[in-house]
Amino acid sequence: MLPPGSMGWPYIGESLQLYSQDPNDFFAKKQRRYGDIFKTHILGCPCVMLASPEAARFVLVTQAHLFKPTYPKSKEKLIGPSALFFHQGDYHTHLRKLVQSSLSPKAIRKLIPDMEEMAISAMESWAREQVINTYHEMKKFAFEVGILSVFGRLDEKYKGELKKNYCIVDKGYNSFPTNLPGTAYNKAILARKKLNQILTEIICERKEKRLLERDLLGHFLNFKDEKGKTLTEDQITDNIIGVLFAAQDTTASALTWILKYLHDDHELLEAVEAEQMAIYESNGFGNKSLTWAQTRNMPLTYMVILESLRMASIISFTFREAVVDIEYEGWKVLPLFRNIHHNPEFFPDPKHFDPSRFEVAPKPNTFIPFGNGVHACPGNELAKLEMLIVVHHLVTKFRWEVVGQQRGIEYGPFPVPQQGLPAKFWKEVFNHQI
Ligand code: HEM
Repeated sequence: MLPPGSMGWPYIGESLQLYSQDPNDFFAKKQRRYGDIFKTHILGCPCVMLASPEAARFVLVTQAHLFKPTYPKSKEKLIGPSALFFHQGDYHTHLRKLVQSSLSPKAIRKLIPDMEEMAISAMESWAREQVINTYHEMKKFAFEVGILSVFGRLDEKYKGELKKNYCIVDKGYNSFPTNLPGTAYNKAILARKKLNQILTEIICERKEKRLLERDLLGHFLNFKDEKGKTLTEDQITDNIIGVLFAAQDTTASALTWILKYLHDDHELLEAVEAEQMAIYESNGFGNKSLTWAQTRNMPLTYMVILESLRMASIISFTFREAVVDIEYEGWKVLPLFRNIHHNPEFFPDPKHFDPSRFEVAPKPNTFIPFGNGVHACPGNELAKLEMLIVVHHLVTKFRWEVVGQQRGIEYGPFPVPQQGLPAKFWKEVFNHQI
């Protein structure tokens, strides 16, 4: 039996209503009217929306085998159809293990010094500019870290080529998918081919030099399944692009929100600064690199990160489709992360930014910024480490002022403060450093 709800106009369904208002309000209104599970019709598909932790858990965890992730074909083609997040079953499990082990705490702790260097050098470049688009700059930083986690230290020549072509793919990803010459989508398809060539060169060089690195590429190249079968080059390249794609906008958007929330609450910023300054001092004002243990012991900063992830809910929802579906062919199932994170029953006064709410662990399955179950984010530890490192260096050495009066949210497709949070950064010498 189908849940209650309205399907809107033929074909366009309720897409116009969805896009003419804050998606949060659109879904919240429906939830108030129809309950936690309701139907609607958006973007050409009939959908069942799930706004309760139990229903989301059913689809993502306990009955995950019955629901496969679904993406538009045009997007799948740009990232690469063998990327793990389009798959279920053995192939997905194998690939996921490789990605998980290369992004595990044991693996990423070694990246801290390089990540710190990238963060400081990015911030110094922002301080040389009048005004920067915070989101764009965070995208560059997140991409650098993505490259580091996939390849370790990569030759500048390859890095530049990857960046240039990935940027074109990124632009095409959110454009209308017509493959006519000159369109953004067509340029993206061509750039995606070029990315394959660059990656093939990197792989060949790695193989020739017999470099047995423990980074993600190393894991992919060394993989053999039970029957001794290795991964094909397409499987490797699609998954590299997949990881870079999953790592960039998400992390950049979260970082931008953290900067906004800290900027808007001076007292909170001072408290975070005090926490970070104690660590900075004990490291001889930056003479020593942050240790993994230090990054695990930044309680207030960590709560700011969790609260930013809840408030912003970067991935507002995800798409699934029933695998064994007789009655409701073509229906999509959407667990609504954002609505769960903004439900006052689980997070009182949900529109209020309050990191201290995380002094008590949230109820199980109510806080899922990195998803849940077999497809939950394998990059979550790396993403959190990036945020801790950025906050550490930012608050101990820099200050920033948001420029302009804009207060809204843009969806591109992830929520970002309007115009990417234009801001002015400067280097600050704090009294106790003199
Ligand atoms: C704040 C930053 C991030 C957020 C909020 C985030 C969120 C998510 C969510 C919600 C999913 C599950 C989607 C679904 O179930 O359909 C996911 C999957 C994934 N994420 Fe992240 N992510 C972040 C950063 C990263 C980073 C830094 C990496 C890699 C370096 C990464 C790699 C992946 C991959 C490969 C998947 C697919 C996993 C699978 O299908 O098994 N993510 N992410």
